[in-house]
Amino acid sequence: MGFAWTRCRAEAGVLAPPVRVETHLGSGLPTLNIVGLPETAVKESKDRVRGALQNAGFEFPLQRIIVNLSPADLPKEGGRYDLAIALGILGASGQIPRQRLPEFEFMGELGLNGDLRPCRGILPAALAAREARRTLVVPRRCGAEAALLGDHSTQVAGHLLQITAWLQGQGMLDEPAAASLPVPDYPELADVRGQVQARRALEVAAAGGHNLLMCGPPGAGKTMLALRLPGILPPMTEAEALEAAAVMSISNSGFRPQHWRRRSFRSPHHTASGVALVGGGSSPRPGEISLAHRGVLFLDELPEFDRRVLEVLREPLESGRITISRAARQAEFPARFQLVAAMNPCPCGYRGSRIRHCRCSPPQVDRYRSRISGPLLDRVDLQIWLSPLTPAEIQDASSGESSEEVRRRAQRARQIQVQRQGCANAQLDSRGMKQHCALGKRESRMLHQAIEKLKLSARGCDRIRRVARTIADLAEARQIGMLHLGEAIQYRQLDRGQGEGSLG
Ligand SMILES: Nc1ncnc2c1ncn2[C@@H]1O[C@H](COP(=O)(O)OP(=O)(O)O)[C@@H](O)[C@H]1O
Ligand SMILES: [Mg+2]
Repeated sequence: MGFAWTRCRAEAGVLAPPVRVETHLGSGLPTLNIVGLPETAVKESKDRVRGALQNAGFEFPLQRIIVNLSPADLPKEGGRYDLAIALGILGASGQIPRQRLPEFEFMGELGLNGDLRPCRGILPAALAAREARRTLVVPRRCGAEAALLGDHSTQVAGHLLQITAWLQGQGMLDEPAAASLPVPDYPELADVRGQVQARRALEVAAAGGHNLLMCGPPGAGKTMLALRLPGILPPMTEAEALEAAAVMSISNSGFRPQHWRRRSFRSPHHTASGVALVGGGSSPRPGEISLAHRGVLFLDELPEFDRRVLEVLREPLESGRITISRAARQAEFPARFQLVAAMNPCPCGYRGSRIRHCRCSPPQVDRYRSRISGPLLDRVDLQIWLSPLTPAEIQDASSGESSEEVRRRAQRARQIQVQRQGCANAQLDSRGMKQHCALGKRESRMLHQAIEKLKLSARGCDRIRRVARTIADLAEARQIGMLHLGEAIQYRQLDRGQGEGSLG
């Protein structure tokens, strides 16, 4: 007879809710029962725990062992509970002192020889344990992730025996070893020659966090420009970096030190499935939109994407998060990404090009463009038309400012926004907009004329005001002026194009 309990953490989206691991030893036929885990996970865990205890020189109690993981309705998978289960069995059978077990949290998979193996989702668990003011013990190989917290709340060990010795007052656990974290480097904006307007639109997008759609023939430099947005965005704050790292931590590829503080750039192919894009699966994993959290989601050839998949983007574009419902379970992942989309002007790609003649009929062009829905287009603040330069023009064009110069301005403008209203202009709600994007008489009149001419929706009109606010912030102007508003109206080029049935 015996009882012990300790703590672990489950995985639910980017959260790591607490799990209580209770071990009861009783008389009866020698069995090990784990309550609260799905069947296949139980079988694998049993084998590993039994092997690890025996090979580490402990006795596997020949009693009726019941391990209860509660709450029972949490999704639980994989080996993350092995360590807590093994320690519970040792505590309940009196092979280690059990009194101190509830003071700590233990997470890690066991190898058959008792060594500790890495598991997914260490960072969310470490953040949650720190919040609860408890020490979390994790496998040494997860140290790089745990070290991101930069404090002593997480300890690491390489082997089960190191932990049992420490619980018996012999020896210590180790501090997690921080991996070397490289300074992120991004493609250089100065590589883009000419294209002054497009570069300016990219700067406005970076400054205010606005979504951007580029329309232009192949070779116009759309992909090249998109790749350069992360490098001109304001550097990540510590909190943003931890959020982004937490998403990577629960992803299939896991967190890597080179991701730290790097604005991600995700460019899923248009054939990507809905699950790959927005997340999901039987134990839900984050999709591309969450892997792009605090970074850039690039959708190249936007009209080729499945329309239903694009519709799903509307919710996260507004809220910055995505809720995935599967049967009884729900998982929520952050998805505050900046959308950059690119499209050809028509099916053949060359409408409006000076280099090649377009062979598409007007109905073909209309059908192609109508594949992106109005409501999605409405959520894209900046829409620009891009013409390719000829090789000779590229040769002759002077190179513009470097990423660093542009980033400095964007960062300054972003600071102004955050100080004024606590968020980027792209995230201003309608109340915030009334307060901070007020227009003077002349400006109001100008906007009204534009609405009539471009047949803008109310939402499209709000977009213009937010963008005008960003342009004013780049100029460090308190009031939105005619010039700022005029430039913002220029960035609705696709609304105009759709109205007239032709672009460029
Ligand atoms: N403005 C430019 N300055 C420098 N190189 C350019 C420019 N425009 C296009 N290029 C060259 O052309 C290539 C194709 O551009 P890309 O961005 O792939 O075009 P798109 O995505 O619009 O089809 C680029 O990799 C780059 O080498
Ligand atoms: Mg391209």
